[in-house]
Amino acid sequence: MPFSRIVGTGSALPPRLVSNHDLAAELATRQIETSDDWIVERTGIRQRYIADRGVKTSALATDAARLALADAQVDASEVDLIIVATSTPDFVFPSTACLVQANLGNKGAAAFDVQAVCSGFVYALTTADSFIRAGRARCAVVIGAEVFSSILDWNDRGTCVLFGDGAGAVVLRASDSPGILAAQLHADGSQMNILAAAGNVAYGQVTGDPFLRMDGQAVFKQAVTVLDRSARSVTKEAGLTLADVDWLIPHQANLRILTFLARKLDVPLEKVVVTVDRHANTSAASVPLALDTARRDGRIQPGQLILMQGVGGGFTWGSVLARM
Ligand code: ACO
Repeated sequence: MPFSRIVGTGSALPPRLVSNHDLAAELATRQIETSDDWIVERTGIRQRYIADRGVKTSALATDAARLALADAQVDASEVDLIIVATSTPDFVFPSTACLVQANLGNKGAAAFDVQAVCSGFVYALTTADSFIRAGRARCAVVIGAEVFSSILDWNDRGTCVLFGDGAGAVVLRASDSPGILAAQLHADGSQMNILAAAGNVAYGQVTGDPFLRMDGQAVFKQAVTVLDRSARSVTKEAGLTLADVDWLIPHQANLRILTFLARKLDVPLEKVVVTVDRHANTSAASVPLALDTARRDGRIQPGQLILMQGVGGGFTWGSVLARM
C-alpha cells in the first residue's frame, strides 16, 4: 500500500485588509460598538481579509491550488483527485471542486466538496490520504477555501469580528515513504446547535436563518477538550508522543483557544503556528493557510513532524499527523 505525502502548498487571500480599527469604525456607523482592545483581548485577532462582493470561493481556491501545484512542480493534468473543503460553496451545485477543476484545465479527475466547517480541511486531507493509500488516486489537490464573510450577520458583533476569507491548498502524492502517519476524524451531531448556519435555499427562496450563529463559550470549551484528546490519540496511534511534534497547527479560531490547548498539551507556544492574528478565523481555510504561511516563512522544514487539527460546526473535529 503506498503512503501519501504533502509535496506542495499554496494559499490565497483577498486583497482587502480590514483591521480591527477599520471594522470598529464601520460598525459604529450602524451604532454597533466594538473596539480593537476588545477583539484583541478576547481573540488575539488584529485584522482579517474580506472578499469584495461577488468574489467566489472557487476563485480563491483556484489561486491557492495553482500556487500549490507550482510549489510541487506538478502539472494540473497529473491530478486525479480534487477535494475542496468549504461551507461557502459558489453554488448549491455543481461542487466548488468541479469549478476549480475547470479553472485548472484538468479533465477527468474525481472532484467533490467536503462539508465539515472548520474541520473541513482535516476531513478532506484524511479522505485524500485514504484514496491514495487504497490505490484509488495518485495525485490529489486538497483545498480549504471560504468566503465566510458571506454568511456572517454584520449586525452581530459577537460573531462578525471573528472571521475572515481565504484559501489554502496542498498537493498530496503517492509515495513509498510516509508522509501522513496517522489521521483521526470525529463528530458529535447532538452538538449541532452550538455553531450553525441553519438556512437553506429551497422553493426559490432562503428558508431558515442564513447567518452563522454561535454559543461562543460552549464552542470554546468543546474545542479545547476535543483538540486535546485528539492530539494525544493521533500521536499515540503513530507510536509517537507530543514531544516528537515539531509544529502544532490547530484550527485558527482564536488565540485563547490556542494558548489553552498548548498549555493542556504541555507544548510550548513557540511550537504552535499562529496566524489567527493576521487572518482571523477562515474556517476550512485556516489550517492550510497556516501551513503554507509557516512553510514559506521558513519555520516548517522538510522532514519535520507537523500535527494539523480541525474543530468546528457539526460538531466536528480531527487531527492529521504528517512528516513533511
Ligand atoms: N465587541 C465588544 N463587545 C462585545 C463584542 C464585540 N465584538 N462581542 C460581544 N461583546 C460583549 C457582549 O455583548 C457581552 O456584553 P454584556 O456583558 O454587556 O452582555 C460581553 O461582550 C461578553 O460577551 P460574551 O459572548 O460572554 O464574551 P466571551 O468572553 O465569551 O467572548 C468569544 C466571546 C470571543 C466569542 C468567546 O466566547 C470565544 O472565544 N469563544 C470561542 C468560540 C470561537 O472562537 N468561535 C469561533 C468560531 S468556532 C470555530 O471555529 C470552532
